[in-house]
Amino acid sequence: KNQATWGGRFSEGPAELMQRLGESVSFDARLAPYDVQGSKAHAAMLCSVGLISKKEKNEIHKGLDAVLADITAGKFKWKTELEDVHMNIEQALTRRTAAGAKLHTARSRNDQVATDMRLFFKDACGQISAGLAKLIAALLDFAEKNPTVVIPGYTHLQRAQPVLIGHHVLAWVEMFGRDRDRFAAVLDHANWCPLGSGAIAGSTLPIDREFTARELGFVDAKGKPRVSRNSMDTVADRDTFIEFATACAMIGTHLSRVAEDMILWASAEFGFVRLADAFTTGSSLMPQKKNPDSLELIRGKAARMQGNLTTLLTMCKGLPLTYNRDLQEDKPPVFDSFDQTLLCLDVLTGTISGTVVNPAACERAVGDPLLLATDLADYLVERGMPFRDAHHAVGKLVGISEKTKTPINEIPMAKAKAAVPELGSDWYDVFDISRGLKLRENLGMPGPKQVKKQITAWRRKIS
Ligand code: ARG
Repeated sequence: KNQATWGGRFSEGPAELMQRLGESVSFDARLAPYDVQGSKAHAAMLCSVGLISKKEKNEIHKGLDAVLADITAGKFKWKTELEDVHMNIEQALTRRTAAGAKLHTARSRNDQVATDMRLFFKDACGQISAGLAKLIAALLDFAEKNPTVVIPGYTHLQRAQPVLIGHHVLAWVEMFGRDRDRFAAVLDHANWCPLGSGAIAGSTLPIDREFTARELGFVDAKGKPRVSRNSMDTVADRDTFIEFATACAMIGTHLSRVAEDMILWASAEFGFVRLADAFTTGSSLMPQKKNPDSLELIRGKAARMQGNLTTLLTMCKGLPLTYNRDLQEDKPPVFDSFDQTLLCLDVLTGTISGTVVNPAACERAVGDPLLLATDLADYLVERGMPFRDAHHAVGKLVGISEKTKTPINEIPMAKAKAAVPELGSDWYDVFDISRGLKLRENLGMPGPKQVKKQITAWRRKIS
């Protein structure tokens, strides 16, 4: 006989293979705290509208607390034949109290799982946002610790113009700041209470959806309950899931770009930074090796987060309304994206905190005066030359420098003036990095005052 909660119309139970295919408890058991929270709110609502007695409500609450305590203590026996977290908890509750059999009144697993997941998202968004804030704080510390270190900024991975290392790090901070905004948006979309939608078409019973929403904290800024507006959409919709995975994938992409920058910086070819032993590993063969594994793994994990997003998009594509069992497959990618994102944020925070700058290597890298060729063009513009001509004129000097193997700022005055008569006797002064940086104090530029200002502003933003 079929023992499942839905077994009434069946004469035999599901095949062992069907159970193996259909069970989700192996990955949705982690929803237990949210499931219990949702059930307690639902029971309180059933009581408030008179569908169950106060005694029954109290028994359900006590029973659910006890079940959750067992789960937390690792004493709960999960049964795959009960399919999922919802049925496992409901059956355990009903073994404790007969009132458990009334809990599923005016509820379906379809609106139940939608509720559990929304509660999960609200929690997860908060945790990721906190992880981002910690990472940003570590990046700001790093920038602050190295206020005078200048490195080349790169385009096409070719040395372009000198910047304070803090300015480069603040570029990463901007990316993670936008990521934080994205999670705030996901949180807002998750903030609607699905309960009361039932399997697809609500319920004939006189339930109070606003009561449940309020109980679970699905409220707007003014404390007004937010109840989902369409029962069919509520059980079919997975776009909040997709948005969450998108936000994680975006973090993954950002993390991978930061990781790549740091891997380059830590290489012997750059040598800008030294990574802490704690976040590197050795080679089983080559005794001298110190490999940036934490950064490489972060770079690799970005692929997983993108894969998870693709899984969700593909799962939903062409799926008819409303709930289809396919949707059970939404959880592994969501949970994996969450776990990996949180882990990677913490790992990068740790890696950054242990990273030390090598100022001598940075100084060598910005030693090439050609990094200031653009500043020389600006200098000619200030002397009245149209920028296109100035660009061309400096290009001529670069050519001479290359042909005569003389650094551009060591071309003799006469030779330089012969090529570019507009040069003043002070043109050599341009080749002073601190001059170039001091002239870049407009908003968003890499001047030292500007960098300091941005650090202060970000500190305030994440506090
Ligand atoms: N474990 C299921 C899921 O995650 C719960 C919903 C089941 N609904 C159903 N109609 N079989 O999707």
